[in-house]
Amino acid sequence: MRDVTLVPFTEDLLPAVQVWFTDADVQRWLGGPDWPAREFRIAGHGIGEEFRGRIVLRVHSWVVLDEDGVPVAHIGGDVYDRWYREPGRSMGLAYVVDPGRQRQGYGRSALLAVVTAPETADVAIFAVGIEPENVASVRCATAAGFTPDDPEPDFEGIVYHLRRKADDHGRGVG
Ligand SMILES: CC(C)(COP(=O)(O)OP(=O)(O)OC[C@H]1O[C@@H](n2cnc3c(N)ncnc32)[C@H](O)[C@@H]1OP(=O)(O)O)[C@@H](O)C(=O)NCCC(=O)NCCS
Repeated sequence: MRDVTLVPFTEDLLPAVQVWFTDADVQRWLGGPDWPAREFRIAGHGIGEEFRGRIVLRVHSWVVLDEDGVPVAHIGGDVYDRWYREPGRSMGLAYVVDPGRQRQGYGRSALLAVVTAPETADVAIFAVGIEPENVASVRCATAAGFTPDDPEPDFEGIVYHLRRKADDHGRGVG
């Protein structure tokens, strides 16, 4: 596992992150350079509102720094009051690793850093919505201990991969 650090995604870090969104795969699965910029435009919107039957409680957005303090990934998402009909706070996550530094364990480490962060101590269920064709993300989530909730894609073609803290006892962070 990589020794990464989460820092809040602030606007001064936007240029470092935005350049990753010129990559074809990043664009395919997430979007273009406006995708990270949009976060700053919509900051605070939607909190307290219902999104697919869940109330958005807050939003977290981090840049992941490598061992030398260099930005290597971006990860974040909304915290909700529950997960569909399941009680307990949940968090939906999206993430990207610098295309020049993928397949070196940073994606897995970023997910694990969020799952163990003090800021998410109240979150019971972490969720990553992945299109099954996104093999890199499926493998990355699997490597971080996430398993498909329902292997059948939903109406948007998404499979939610979940990691429940209740399942972690005795397993450790890996
Ligand atoms: C998905 C993504 C974040 C993975 O990051 P990463 O740093 O390359 O992942 P890791 O190095 O931690 O790899 C974790 C596992 O995934 C596997 N993996 C990563 N990229 C892969 C690829 N392109 N093809 C096959 N397997 C891949 C690794 O081999 C590793 O598996 P292992 O633990 O069984 O050896 C990265 O590919 C990315 O940013 N993709 C574009 C944006 C995106 O798709 N985000 C997710 C939206 S749901």
